[in-house]
Amino acid sequence: MGNAIKKIGVLTSGGDAPGMNAAIRAIVRTCSYHDVMCVGIFRGFQGLVEGDFEVLGPRDVNYIINKGGTILKTARCNEFKTPEGRRAAYENLKKAEIDALIIIGGDGSFTGGMFLSKEYDIPIMGIPGTIDNDIHGTSHTIGFDTALNTVVDAVDKIRDTASSHKRLFFVEVMGRDAGHIALNAGIGAGAEEILIPEENMGMERLLESLKKSKKSGKSSSIVIVAEGERLGKNVFELGEYVEENLPEYEVRVSVLGHMQRGGAPSCFDRVLASRLSVKAVETLLEGKRNYMVGLINDQVALTPLTKAVKGHAPIDQELLRVSDIITI
Ligand code: F6P
Repeated sequence: MGNAIKKIGVLTSGGDAPGMNAAIRAIVRTCSYHDVMCVGIFRGFQGLVEGDFEVLGPRDVNYIINKGGTILKTARCNEFKTPEGRRAAYENLKKAEIDALIIIGGDGSFTGGMFLSKEYDIPIMGIPGTIDNDIHGTSHTIGFDTALNTVVDAVDKIRDTASSHKRLFFVEVMGRDAGHIALNAGIGAGAEEILIPEENMGMERLLESLKKSKKSGKSSSIVIVAEGERLGKNVFELGEYVEENLPEYEVRVSVLGHMQRGGAPSCFDRVLASRLSVKAVETLLEGKRNYMVGLINDQVALTPLTKAVKGHAPIDQELLRVSDIITI
């Protein structure tokens, strides 16, 4: 591959996600395979603004494919949102002779990268790394599968105690303002109800459905609530409201929180991260720029970053239907 790119920088940005290390490993090794130098940028855009860089070789990324988190650390950086911050970032890239940048993160991180690319003509490639699975141009983001397994595992455990005490549990899961984690993990864990922001069920229908469920002979129930749910009540208020209106239920609330972002990545996430990363490096070396590498119909595919950052990936209607049918 003859190319003008001799040095590629890589950073992880936004919320960490299991599989980010597998991506860093694959990027470093693909660079080495093609005789290109790879530079790790620490703490996301913060490290870019501050020049916190380190050259990485294939042996620097040994034994990280199985590790959660990100060896490059991550941050949400306000300074980079200013023109002065981006100028400092560009000066650091120039000083280190970095020709192109790979950003592993979510749509906010890609938007930041696009600003830099537009203002300073730096080629950018995005790799979708977030547990939320909310990015256009990929069926799966890195970390989503692992987070689903973590949630299902946790809900299985909650189910044991819910059933022993004949209780109704509201379990809040992450996803920011998207319901992909809730819907998929809810189906996988056999939840009785799944509340997601994309589908406003309304309080009345929720009460009706829980009443029906009790009548049908269910003694315990699990309701998965996406954190971005728009019923107008937080999960604790929701629990109280249901207990007040349906005294036949004893309610408990469990918020899974940041445990959903940790842990060893699943095999799926490791393979996904490796595939997307090889493609990201090779796409840059082919002279293309400003794409996100994603998975479409199980094939690695490129989507212009301008499209990838447009709104959120829609909820799968077939999954919604499956959930409606099997939760009765
Ligand atoms: O985007 C990943 C995510 O974990 C969301 O699901 C969640 O809303 C958010 O990050 C939490 O962010 P923080 O780690 O800053 O609390």
